[in-house]
Amino acid sequence: MTTYLVTGAGSGLGAITARELAATGARVVLAVRDPARVTPPPGDTEVRRLDLADLASVRAFAAGWAGDLDVLINNAGVMAVPHAKTADGFETHMAVNHFGPFLLTNLLLPHVTGRVVTVSSNLARRGKLPLDDLNWEHRRYSALGAYNQSKLANLLFTHELQRRLSEAGRDTLAVAAHPGVARTGLDRHFRGVRAAVVKALYPVIAQKKPEYGARPILFAATGDVPGGAYVGPGDRSGGRPKLERQRSVDSDLARRLWEVSARLTGG
Ligand SMILES: NC(=O)c1ccc[n+]([C@@H]2O[C@H](COP(=O)([O-])OP(=O)(O)OC[C@H]3O[C@@H](n4cnc5c(N)ncnc54)[C@H](OP(=O)(O)O)[C@@H]3O)[C@@H](O)[C@H]2O)c1
Repeated sequence: MTTYLVTGAGSGLGAITARELAATGARVVLAVRDPARVTPPPGDTEVRRLDLADLASVRAFAAGWAGDLDVLINNAGVMAVPHAKTADGFETHMAVNHFGPFLLTNLLLPHVTGRVVTVSSNLARRGKLPLDDLNWEHRRYSALGAYNQSKLANLLFTHELQRRLSEAGRDTLAVAAHPGVARTGLDRHFRGVRAAVVKALYPVIAQKKPEYGARPILFAATGDVPGGAYVGPGDRSGGRPKLERQRSVDSDLARRLWEVSARLTGG
């Protein structure tokens, strides 16, 4: 039986992904911040606690994992949150969207037999990633800039993970995905003009159903895709997901981000 682990599976795209995978008869572990708030979807499903903003929680979660894991889906994320630091001293976007998944993936990697899917965003292309200030200590904080940076980190992470897996001669794949724009709770921190503009644009830019936003994630997790691929939506109507043409990925930056992330997380 195929086992999937989906982070952020209690709501939004993660919940849809977990539900769809469970409907295929697979075993699905839902990693969520607050298990008491989550009802698992029907099937061979199980809810476990994982707070990606806390490396101790990531370590405890990974230590409790036994047996093979076919597919790890790094889906959980936050967007445009006010400036704050986690207990580990990380800016929140970097903690939840990159450092937590980085450590989780590395700790679980010995168990992963199939692939690691990491959910990025179209906004990654606007990301800037200064390695000497990943946690926004020397720049004026931008909530959206911090999100974009963390989503660029997701793409670079996938690129370098695939390089390392290939180098090690492993068959495990690293794949990235993005949902386009899907109406979930991700925009809950938008305020004022930004909130109004985004709301006005949704009918034009968003997936017609949030479910369609999960399709690229599901395709990245189950479809016939090469390692290092970046899967996006085919259209806004749930069409077949497609492989995005990746603008030249900065391999050197990816390698250095990995090294800094390993040092900062102890992973
Ligand atoms: N929606 C879009 O248009 C869009 C576009 C591009 C990329 N994405 C990406 O898609 C992914 C899913 O987003 P979504 O749209 O489904 O947003 P969402 O509805 O806000 O869901 C995000 C999930 O992440 C979980 N999460 C947040 N902080 C966490 C933490 N510290 N530890 C563990 N889990 C945590 C949330 O749990 P709680 O329920 O406990 O808060 C929630 O289940 C994200 O990586 C996002 O960047 C989404």
